[in-house]
Amino acid sequence: MNILAFSTTTTAATATFQRPQPISAVSKQPLSSFHQRKITHPMPPEKHQVFKSLESWASKSILPLIKPVNRCWQPNEFLPDSTGLTNNFMDEVRTLRDRTIRLPDEYFVALVGDMITEEILPTYQSTVNACDAIRDEIGASPNPWATWLRSWAAEENRHSDLLKTYLYLSGRVDMLMIEKTIQNLIGAGMDVGWNNNPYLMYVYASFQERATFVSHGNTARLAKEGGDPILARICGTIAADEKRHENVYVRIVEKLLEVDPNETMLAIGKMMRKKITMPGHLMHDGQDPHLFQHFSFVTSRIGVYTGDDYMEILDFLIGQWRLEKLEGLTGDGRREQEYVCGLPTRGRKLLEQANERAMKMDPKGLKFSWIFNREVNV
Ligand SMILES: [Fe+2]
Ligand SMILES: [Fe+2]
Repeated sequence: MNILAFSTTTTAATATFQRPQPISAVSKQPLSSFHQRKITHPMPPEKHQVFKSLESWASKSILPLIKPVNRCWQPNEFLPDSTGLTNNFMDEVRTLRDRTIRLPDEYFVALVGDMITEEILPTYQSTVNACDAIRDEIGASPNPWATWLRSWAAEENRHSDLLKTYLYLSGRVDMLMIEKTIQNLIGAGMDVGWNNNPYLMYVYASFQERATFVSHGNTARLAKEGGDPILARICGTIAADEKRHENVYVRIVEKLLEVDPNETMLAIGKMMRKKITMPGHLMHDGQDPHLFQHFSFVTSRIGVYTGDDYMEILDFLIGQWRLEKLEGLTGDGRREQEYVCGLPTRGRKLLEQANERAMKMDPKGLKFSWIFNREVNV
């Protein structure tokens, strides 16, 4: 679920992988410098009214997309029954372990990184809630923006619960190192550049939900090809949630473009200029100082999340928001419109050049603590 490594290939986990050439969106600067960053894109105070005026629209158009709890799936439905009622628990665990046996180590690196990214939910929720004009001031506000945020977090919470339990039962990964990574990550936080500005945040969330939809869809496909149809169903089910979340955020940005095209276009331009960095970008296991980048190499190499995917998401959003035909822009808005609409073409040229360079490089082995320091090729 990361977009930092631009891939040379989108093919599945086969022997034809080529080493990806990264175009890094995460600087190698020490983490402390992230914490010294100043807020660079505050929302102008007069824009608060835009979100206030959209509250009844959000109640009618966004809140119906929350699925009632009794219609939602729960992790327990996909896991071996531990209650003792069926007496099948041990057999079901053995079957689960047999199913995962043919999945390669690199698949587990990708799945662990995806799961860890879901684990940063507390940071994600609190960072969204810090945004101006939409924040939940009391913790249980009936405001539609706040209601959506809490329900979204409650839905997301199931993703990591299910994936983490499944990984634990598989016996294929080092849970201790994974747990340390999660604790480090939640302690480190995230800094993806929306700076309390809800325009930027909703643009980011649109991209990121689509990226998770793509990524979980690809881990589903690879699980199926690798002989685990249940894991495929799990990843596919999570991907379907992400798709519904994507619809919500895309719809909010669409509405903002309608009522405030110039400010929204500026926000899209600002987020795309920063490049969209995934929420888990500060993950650290206490061993590998470039863990997120290395995880990105793997997801890129096995086709879970690639540079091509990044470009396709850009194409999708540009089309969905009809940015090429957007009207009502002033000079700076038009400049950002031109910049964003030209991004996929420019990005694909960069990808091509990266592919050519990568073809000339020898494969390199990387060790991951999550799989007991075994090495995978990138
Ligand atoms: Fe998720
Ligand atoms: Fe999501």
